[in-house]
Amino acid sequence: MPKLKIEGGHKLSGDILISGAKNSAVALLPASLLCTSKSKIVNLPKIRDIEYLLKILKVVNCDYKIKENIIEVYTTNLTNNPIPEHLSEQMRASYYFMGTLLARFKHIEISFPGGCNIGARPIDLHIKGFEALGATVTIIKNKYIIDAKELKGTTIHLDFPSVGATINLMLASSLAKGTTIIENAACEPEIGNVIDYLISMGLNIEGKNTNRIVIKGASSLDNGFISVCPDRIEASTYVILGALIGNNLKIKGINTEFIKSLLDTLKTCGVNFKELSNEIIISKCNNIKPIDIKTEVYPGFPTDTQPPFVTLLTQANGTSIITETIYESRFKFASLLNEMGANTESNGNILKVTGPTKLSPKTLYTPDLRGGAALVLAALITKGTTYLDNISLILRGYEDIVEKLTKVGAKISVIE
Ligand code: UD1
Repeated sequence: MPKLKIEGGHKLSGDILISGAKNSAVALLPASLLCTSKSKIVNLPKIRDIEYLLKILKVVNCDYKIKENIIEVYTTNLTNNPIPEHLSEQMRASYYFMGTLLARFKHIEISFPGGCNIGARPIDLHIKGFEALGATVTIIKNKYIIDAKELKGTTIHLDFPSVGATINLMLASSLAKGTTIIENAACEPEIGNVIDYLISMGLNIEGKNTNRIVIKGASSLDNGFISVCPDRIEASTYVILGALIGNNLKIKGINTEFIKSLLDTLKTCGVNFKELSNEIIISKCNNIKPIDIKTEVYPGFPTDTQPPFVTLLTQANGTSIITETIYESRFKFASLLNEMGANTESNGNILKVTGPTKLSPKTLYTPDLRGGAALVLAALITKGTTYLDNISLILRGYEDIVEKLTKVGAKISVIE
């Protein structure tokens, strides 16, 4: 199993270019299957989740040509073969094939999706939405079998603005008869990116960046083209790193509007940075103020930014309180930070972090994708050598993390 070896304590300076967003790309690729013949995606991140999605494309006889960060997807020979467990369980986003294959074939068989172990993560809202569109959902062993004679547009009110359910229902209703309205929809930027892709295929869909999405089902869609939007979670991770150990660290190729809640929170903590239209230049802050934060749906403070932000708060002068409202078990990484010397205490969905604490190197495992990112940041500020096991979880979501960090002066490598 490969490990990350990180020798921390080195100031980081230079440029980090942000990749295409994982959470967009993992929806855009399945969305390509809505096209009758072909589509193209640029700025596709080369991450583990994409590798597995490409394997799923092969299962359904979808051809593609990939060169660097550009993919052309050919769907002329598409079939609806069942998606096996060894692929579906690799990530959460495998569930987007439910929406697209249901739309195309009115039948899909897929084993349960996987994803980070950060809470129960039911998909009842997706299922209820498919049923409202006219589908029948059966669970046999660990497999969903979804059938429909016909999909018919309707109004679907989500009990919670779920990112996954919003996208999946947009996909499923894109070829349905009539108009579908999704109320209480999520409005994360990645959803806007998917909407733009669907528009490029010829879909009449309105409501980008709002909580009400209106889809007029098309008889067919084709020739999609999209550039994956910048990854706001990757950008946030590196901005936080800059506040911890940067020396004019420049985070480039971002949309600062997407990370406004983080930037506002950093300002409240007394962290200064230079903000240009699509980049942030940030240096180590020697007087981080503690803060109370609550994770929320967009545009609130993102749950995915919470773990790296906790690493920052281990260096704040005083006690911070984090309330995690999206997932019920997203503090596993905090007990690992404690093993390095941090002072955190969790109680249900609340984490108390008292700083500043001097961290010491350790050999630790990666608990999940963003928890792993929090530990990478901790290791980078810790004098000595930290080893992180099970790094495939981190590689699921951070393109070229070792190369990007090495370029700005970090001593980080993958060892067997
Ligand atoms: C997406 C992101 C993930 C991010 C999350 C919240 C992807 C691939 N992943 O995950 O990185 O942390 O948004 O911003 O885009 N829920 C239900 N029933 C459902 C669906 C969701 O109860 O049918 C609950 C979940 O358990 C969770 C909350 O709603 O507590 C948010 O989930 P959701 O917005 O759907 O997150 P994901 O799409 O899984």
